[in-house]
Amino acid sequence: MTAIDVKDLKVERSGKAVLHGIRFSVQVGEVFALLGGNGAGKSTTLLTLLGFLPVAAGSVSLNGISPSANVKKIRDQVAYLPEAATLYPHLNAYENLGYFLSLSKLKLSKAELDATLEKVDLQTDARSQKMETYSKGMRQKVSIALALLRDTPILLLDEPTSGLDPVAIDEFNRLVRSLAAEGRTILMVTHDVYGACQVADRIGLLRGGELVGLFGSNEGQKIDTQTVHKAFTERTGAKRAVS
Ligand SMILES: Nc1ncnc2c1ncn2[C@@H]1O[C@H](COP(=O)(O)OP(=O)(O)O)[C@@H](O)[C@H]1O
Ligand SMILES: [Mg+2]
Repeated sequence: MTAIDVKDLKVERSGKAVLHGIRFSVQVGEVFALLGGNGAGKSTTLLTLLGFLPVAAGSVSLNGISPSANVKKIRDQVAYLPEAATLYPHLNAYENLGYFLSLSKLKLSKAELDATLEKVDLQTDARSQKMETYSKGMRQKVSIALALLRDTPILLLDEPTSGLDPVAIDEFNRLVRSLAAEGRTILMVTHDVYGACQVADRIGLLRGGELVGLFGSNEGQKIDTQTVHKAFTERTGAKRAVS
């Protein structure tokens, strides 16, 4: 069953074409990574799926719903982790979650918050400390918890592992796999080839607003990192690191 369907999508920003007719779909329970360098159009794709940017041509739908026409209905389908999630440093994890959930008219018990903070593996003693004392990885866990607490079938994650250390990335990958196993659909965008290959069932390579490659199948075999890396660097013309 298709959860996310993007058909020949064109999007313009400030009168300039940014997405030039991209096409992909994500199945229910699948982890799909949209991989691309800076400015490829990754965040633009997510913002369009959320209904924050208009579709210039083509179409997008989430569980059969078109976001631009059904802003309210879409909110029940998707949770979104923005590229720079902003939580309040002077509040603790419970206070941040409580505040941001209240904006979505949700009121959850401490036990419910704890169950999700457990799931994202945030240490118990940290939860009632001000978030200004947190590492980037801990902050990211709270942001992911916030997305999960909205309990939507689809998750859109913008660069969820950027700035995390390898241990935190491993933990994140395990969490994403367990969410997919529960039947959630995950579309994440990233510039990290290795991370994408670790966690995704399929990868779409985005360059200059065009989808230039598709890797993996939905049959459980791992995606070959070297193949994707080669395509990413060749096709994006990325400079080799000089060390
Ligand atoms: N607010 C904006 N107004 C106009 N153009 C934008 C805006 N944000 C991004 N763009 C342009 O859209 C293109 C894609 O950006 P974006 O989707 O943010 O890429 P990515 O997330 O892959 O780094 C870039 O060329 C960028 O300059
Ligand atoms: Mg971006």
